[in-house]
Amino acid sequence: MKDLEKLSREHFDGMADNYAATDGEYYTPLPKLCCTRAAELLEGEDFGRLLDVGCGSGYLISLLHEKRGGEYVGLDISPAMLAHAREKLQGADGVTFAESGAGSLPFGDGAFGAVTCIFSFHHYPYPERAVAEAYRVLREGGVYILADVNAATAGEPGEEEFAFYTRDEGAALLERAGFAVEVAEEPTPRCFLVKGRKGGAEFGQRQPR
Ligand SMILES: C[S@@+](CC[C@H](N)C(=O)[O-])C[C@H]1O[C@@H](n2cnc3c(N)ncnc32)[C@H](O)[C@@H]1O
Repeated sequence: MKDLEKLSREHFDGMADNYAATDGEYYTPLPKLCCTRAAELLEGEDFGRLLDVGCGSGYLISLLHEKRGGEYVGLDISPAMLAHAREKLQGADGVTFAESGAGSLPFGDGAFGAVTCIFSFHHYPYPERAVAEAYRVLREGGVYILADVNAATAGEPGEEEFAFYTRDEGAALLERAGFAVEVAEEPTPRCFLVKGRKGGAEFGQRQPR
């Protein structure tokens, strides 16, 4: 069986310099676009501490930290991507990084007020576990934002990719893990973004999809 974590690590270690130089844009503009949208959706959220899973070269954390300060942890499986993220966020108070796969997060239950995962999820050979882990490390009322390639318009997954999902499949993954889905959208036809809340209606306003 393919070791997808190893393949992803090698793939992203190899492209990290180019990726970091353009915040991912040389590859496709979609991750940056989804980071911007995720930052907008987090505007009203008092999350305190945020975990960015598959943080890559640190674009989303730098965007949020510049806007509003706060505490951030960036997690990624690629040491070369993390090296760029550390360099980008050098001197930024409250920002740390962890090298790990998304299927087993090295944090305690309820440690974060928000978890984000932008254009990384399609690499995970353990989609349900990755969402369950995000749920576990969120406190009650915390939000999870997942954005990724839209299976409705994508081709076949590549060598280091596991699967693509549609917006509705993304929303269903969150619901099965226990999240109340508040946003399910396609910022462009090539990507989807879903936002779920742990604890549901008690903490947030569920909007019709
Ligand atoms: C396309 S980049 C996106 C980076 C960043 N989120 C952004 O929006 O620019 C995908 C990232 O996911 C990371 N990744 C791939 N598989 C992973 C896994 N199993 N666990 C954690 N990170 C992973 C890669 O190393 C890479 O940095």
